[in-house]
Amino acid sequence: MDLTHALQLLHAGQPIAVPTETVYGLAADGLNPNAVARIFAAKERPHFDPLILHIADPSDLPSLAAHISPEAQALAHAFWPGGLTLVLPKQPVVPDLVTAGLPHVAVRCPAHPLMRQLLREFGRPLAAPSANRFGRISPTDADAVRAELGDRIPLILDGGPCPIGLESTIIDTTTRPCRLLRAGAIPLEAIRHILPCDDSPPVAPAQPAAPGLLHSHYAPTTPLFLSPQPLAQLPPLPSSVAALVWSNPPHPLPTPCRILAPDHSDLTAAANLFRFLRELDASGCRAIYADPMPQTGLGRAIRDRLHRASRGSLHLEDHQFLEIPRNLRSSDELKQA
Ligand code: TXA
Ligand code: MG
Repeated sequence: MDLTHALQLLHAGQPIAVPTETVYGLAADGLNPNAVARIFAAKERPHFDPLILHIADPSDLPSLAAHISPEAQALAHAFWPGGLTLVLPKQPVVPDLVTAGLPHVAVRCPAHPLMRQLLREFGRPLAAPSANRFGRISPTDADAVRAELGDRIPLILDGGPCPIGLESTIIDTTTRPCRLLRAGAIPLEAIRHILPCDDSPPVAPAQPAAPGLLHSHYAPTTPLFLSPQPLAQLPPLPSSVAALVWSNPPHPLPTPCRILAPDHSDLTAAANLFRFLRELDASGCRAIYADPMPQTGLGRAIRDRLHRASRGSLHLEDHQFLEIPRNLRSSDELKQA
């Protein structure tokens, strides 16, 4: 049975892919630096990028966090198990490789039943970044993990498609007020319902506070451009350009076109986002044009991911699209074209 095999591999210090409610993770024993090093190797992830530790139960938090502020406590109480990651002062037991040498550790108690069972039976925290190669789109089903890492890892524990489809929201609880490090599965509005939270962009530190904040993260290979206006309001798109729209498709319908929220729900859009990006990336189109996304609810995290995945904004002149040359790298080149 896969769970038994998974536990054997984890005890042997091997990384395996695991389902969570947000995205698939590449998990290994979070207190064993050799096992953690294998995650970095499989992902080709730079060592300055710290990992999230996953726990079976909120009551496991004190074993990893040296201090739990009332704010951290309130957030854990409100959103765990679930798509929220808290950054807290670390206990000495947490390996430096996990935190990239930072004095703080990121911890999450996931809600996915199979992941929780695995964590309970393993009995130790699991370090798990998203199960993609560094800088690429996070996988939201087992097939996507296979495409990213299939030849590099011994097991993919298949728990079906991820119900949320966006990575966890990360909150730094070591500052006053708490600070949003990454928009994600729990909307900022829900966090602010519990306590004040600063969402101003961090001043560039020597090490990125959360390298998920790096530009050109979550990126497809095909150039992606953000449209300043809904594509449905623009003249016909050039041929062999794909469209990623919120709810209203452009006319005439480009091929391919993906509608994130046919039911206007940000939950539906989040669950579709990474799969649609992968599908459009594989479609052979020259470029992907994306609608502006809503600023509220999960729209904020979707906007953030698309912004990081993009090569800039669509440049419109006199309502005509400029021809996009092949191998286009940046919006500046587009302006010069
Ligand atoms: O939903 C998720 O969070 C998924 C699932 C698998 O749990 N995990 C995930 O991990 O997205 P990853 O490694 O792809 O993104 C974690 C982010 C990175 O941007 C990392 O820099 C940041 O969390 N992070 C980890 N430890 C941190 C720390 N001590 N301080 C600040 N940021 C940290
Ligand atoms: Mg990631």
